[in-house]
Amino acid sequence: MGYENLIVEERDAVAKITVNRPDKLNALNVRTREEILAAFKDLTGNPRIRVVVVTGAGDKAFIAGADISEFTGGTALQQREIMQRSRAFDAMEDCPKPVIAMINGFALGGGCELAMACDIRIASAKAKFGQPEVKLGLIPGGGGTQRLSRLIGEGKAMELILTGDMIDAEEALRLGLVNQVVPPEELESRTMALANRIADLSPVALAMAKKSVKNAARKDLTCGLEAESDLFALCFASEDKEEGVRAFLEKRKPVFRGR
Ligand code: COA
Repeated sequence: MGYENLIVEERDAVAKITVNRPDKLNALNVRTREEILAAFKDLTGNPRIRVVVVTGAGDKAFIAGADISEFTGGTALQQREIMQRSRAFDAMEDCPKPVIAMINGFALGGGCELAMACDIRIASAKAKFGQPEVKLGLIPGGGGTQRLSRLIGEGKAMELILTGDMIDAEEALRLGLVNQVVPPEELESRTMALANRIADLSPVALAMAKKSVKNAARKDLTCGLEAESDLFALCFASEDKEEGVRAFLEKRKPVFRGR
């Protein structure tokens, strides 16, 4: 698929997806969401790629939310159909490869939701976060009411969602909404260094680990623990587990082939 609103680059084992509508602060229109969905499908099936980084073009915004210009005129049923057709954030969460959000500026509404669907969030010190949907007479519709409360707790999630207030990167770090805050000029190098470090690990183990952590939010504790031990045992079917254990015992660096 040729992308109109995304730039997808491969740098060794890391794919970088840039949402590229800087004059609209990278707002997510339907086409962009469909392109993200297609890109993740493609990257999931690409054995060269082990980690995906997602960012926004320009120096102002990561993603300033859903494209508000598409919110006029449609009926409720049309809107529901559109949202069910382009479930890009779920595809990111379900991607077996680690996904890192490189948050370079405004992450509002759908931008904050997209970042929360990633596995690790690295923010520039000038990033800003918020779920401003109530100000438009809407609610978060891309998982915000679910993922934000799981990440930072119901109380703070309620405050952000019910006020629509923006917070800065330091506050986002304090709340646990992002993993790290770095100087803007180091955002790319620090994120890529992290992505490359993870890309050296076993893709089999990474996929199992991601699935198991996701189970924590989706299943009750008993089912989650049971699934975890099954996934742990399943790693014993991989060559990577053999290689990782043998390399440790032989005091050498492992070479993981994703098998
Ligand atoms: N959807 C559509 N267009 C958007 C947009 C969005 N979510 N966010 C920004 N834009 C557009 C603006 O309309 C403007 O376009 P124009 O130049 O054609 O008029 C352009 O991006 C630049 O934005 P602007 O508002 O002029 O920048 P700013 O620095 O004054 O303000 C924000 C930045 C992020 C505070 C402001 O753009 C904003 O509040 N955006 C909406 C955020 C939001 O409510 N998101 C949730 C949507 S459900």
